[in-house]
Amino acid sequence: MSWTMKWQVRSFVFCLYIAEAVFAQVRYSIPEEMTKWSFVGNIAQDLGIDIKRLKTGKARVFTGGSTEYIELNVEKGTLAVKDRIDREQICRQTIPCSIDFQIVLENPMELFRITIEIIDVNDNSPTFPKKEIRLEMSELSVIGARYLLDSAVDPDVGVNSLQSYVLEPSDHFILKLHARPDGSKYVEMMLQTALDREEKQEHNLILTAKDGGDPQRSGTMKIHIIVLDANDNAPVFSQALYKASVSENALKNTVILTVSASDADEGTNGDVIYSFSHSTDSVSELIAIDPHTGEIKVIGDLDYETSKAYEINIQARDHGGLTDSSKLLIEIKDVNDNAPVITLMSFSSPVPEDSPPGTALAMLNVEDADSGSNGKVRCSISQNIPFEIKSSSLNFYSIVTEQVLDREQISEYNITITARDEGAPPLSSSKTVTLRISDVNDNAPVFERKAYTTHVTENNSPGVSIFLIKASDADWGHNAQVSYFLQDTKHNGVPVSSYISVNSESGSVHAVRAFDYEQTKQFEIHIRSQDGGSPPLSSNVTVSICIEDQNDNSPQILYPVQSGVSLVAEMVARSADVGYLVTKVVAVDADSGQNAWLSYKLLKATDRALFEVGSQNGEIRTSRQVSDKDAVKQRLVVVVEDNGQPSRSATVNVNVAVADSFPEVLSEFSDFTHDKDYNDSLTFYLVLSLAVVSFLFIVSVIVLVSVKVYRWRQSRLFYKSNGNLPVIPSAYYPPRYADVGATGTLQHVYNYEVCMTTDSRKSDFKYVTPCTVNVDPSGMETMQKEKNTKEDMDICTEPTCCIFGFNYNHPSSHFQ
Ligand SMILES: *[C@@H]1O[C@H](CO)[C@@H](O)[C@H](O)[C@H]1NC(C)=O
Ligand SMILES: *[C@@H]1O[C@H](CO)[C@@H](O)[C@H](O)[C@H]1NC(C)=O
Repeated sequence: MSWTMKWQVRSFVFCLYIAEAVFAQVRYSIPEEMTKWSFVGNIAQDLGIDIKRLKTGKARVFTGGSTEYIELNVEKGTLAVKDRIDREQICRQTIPCSIDFQIVLENPMELFRITIEIIDVNDNSPTFPKKEIRLEMSELSVIGARYLLDSAVDPDVGVNSLQSYVLEPSDHFILKLHARPDGSKYVEMMLQTALDREEKQEHNLILTAKDGGDPQRSGTMKIHIIVLDANDNAPVFSQALYKASVSENALKNTVILTVSASDADEGTNGDVIYSFSHSTDSVSELIAIDPHTGEIKVIGDLDYETSKAYEINIQARDHGGLTDSSKLLIEIKDVNDNAPVITLMSFSSPVPEDSPPGTALAMLNVEDADSGSNGKVRCSISQNIPFEIKSSSLNFYSIVTEQVLDREQISEYNITITARDEGAPPLSSSKTVTLRISDVNDNAPVFERKAYTTHVTENNSPGVSIFLIKASDADWGHNAQVSYFLQDTKHNGVPVSSYISVNSESGSVHAVRAFDYEQTKQFEIHIRSQDGGSPPLSSNVTVSICIEDQNDNSPQILYPVQSGVSLVAEMVARSADVGYLVTKVVAVDADSGQNAWLSYKLLKATDRALFEVGSQNGEIRTSRQVSDKDAVKQRLVVVVEDNGQPSRSATVNVNVAVADSFPEVLSEFSDFTHDKDYNDSLTFYLVLSLAVVSFLFIVSVIVLVSVKVYRWRQSRLFYKSNGNLPVIPSAYYPPRYADVGATGTLQHVYNYEVCMTTDSRKSDFKYVTPCTVNVDPSGMETMQKEKNTKEDMDICTEPTCCIFGFNYNHPSSHFQ
């Protein structure tokens, strides 16, 4: 309170004396805002007025209607503060500031002018019109930019009025005070260092206004600065290089990775658009980047084999056009998605069947586009074929033969080549090639049989086809084209080609001429079949041609000899018993078999009852006791018939003399010869000698036959089946049998043929050549063979011409 008291002592007294009225003036100085009833001054003393006068003069304060701030204490003659005195209210900024009023006295009326100067007290702080202001400024604001601020107001005056401003903090802005032409001051804020929204988005400053009072008063204003974003930041990728891998079979829309770039700016300035920069078409068809999220996606079919990795430049761009770039390295991981590919580089087909083992047939190349074990390939070929696959070098294979081939067994192979890689799961592919084996002439023609027998009936027409021969050749084409050739052999000194010809193409065998069974019963030809290979291969076969008999020969009577007039007569003693063998008609038939099976019949007889003829053997026997009444001359006609179809026959006259003595015969038979010039006795001796020779012959034959027959029986004969074969004594000579059995007939049937050949074709026969007649010791076997012949094709029982018999070689059997 000491400062208020100072002002109390400063008082001035003015005494003005004017006529009739006393004007005195007193001046006081007091600080404003003094408390009520504060002492201002003692006017009684200062004006020199007695207290009593104050009372009697009814002293009072006259303000003329304005506020009475001061009160007059009449009792003490002092002035005191009556109401709050606010200088700023009373005088505003005017200085000096004073309150004027009068003290009025009555009786006599006196006026005293009082002036109270109000001294400013620093009772007001500087104040800003707003406590807080908000400023927005771009971060790009240039240094030196000014912002006008509201000024603060301090109603105090003088030193108590506003003196200075302070801005805190002052890192970006400084204050500038300026005076207007009218003297008022205003304050500006100037940007001193650049703003950066990204560094600090808001700044809070405090502007303090200070006055000069003591104590000093101040007022503040908050300045809230919002830094507005400017696109002053480029996007920044999080990595300078992104690496990722993706397998080549990744599905579309697979996200490989996500790249991101950050932009420090906000709002649209911070929106980043991603893209590939400088990407080739091939890349952009396979991989795409999401412009907003930065996801890298697969959009096409990746293929490790096309490209193992992609290096892509990526760009991030904000709306302001600022960019950053980074690199993206995408490795494609191999997947076993490629089957091996087999390429046939060379293939030799057909290959000759005689190619040695190890012959190369084909060259292969096998590629697998995958890598690593996915691309490792193993090759194999089908099993159970005579080929093997060999790897000559990496990815190259050859197929070679493993053994000798045989076209005749397998003419074609399907070789399946399988290539399989080692991926998981493995992929494989296969290729089938058909290898043909070409023929080599390695097979000779083969006849259907080892030997052939064919039958041809004699008297055939020349040129007739008698047989078809066939040989097959396992080879192919020309190598299998078989031709047939007749081997130039001889039969009985005659080339077989004069009998037979062979069609070289068809294999049909033709007779060149008519055959005659009686000349040739059988002969062999050799036919060679030859293929068309080079060199040709051939094989031989023997064909037996059996000529079959036809009944083309009539029986030939050998005995009795027929001449113009028969002088020969058989003699029968009158004492002869029944069954006496008178004679035997001997006939032969050049044919064979049934055609030569002769039967004998008595055609005519002088006395039919006296003689009978053995139908089988031609024996003429007496059939009853000869009586004396029987004529000496007996004439018999015997017919000999063969069994052919149609049958042929011959007749013979037999003269029989029934007599006891030779002269009787002669006398009887003289009429037989009555017209002959022959000498009877000569004839007789001729006959006799003939009979003797015949007898000797027959005896020797019988001995021989007995020996043979004995052997037969020893080895199970089959003659029963031939029991009814004709008995043909073979000789030209008259028979001279000895009766062996009781009946006088031969006990054993025997059969043989006279094999005849002739040098001349004109006559039926001229020679009886040495005849080879073989005994077949196993008749059963022969039968068996004959049976087979019927079933199987004709196989001649060999030799066909002789069924059985014996060796008979008579040196003197030639006759002319
Ligand atoms: C080879 O294959 C072909 C075609 O599939 C077939 O016609 C032929 O019979 C086969 N050959 C062999 C020897 O398997
Ligand atoms: C075929 O017969 C002929 C003559 O007889 C003979 O020289 C040849 O060696 C025979 N060939 C064969 C393959 O038997």
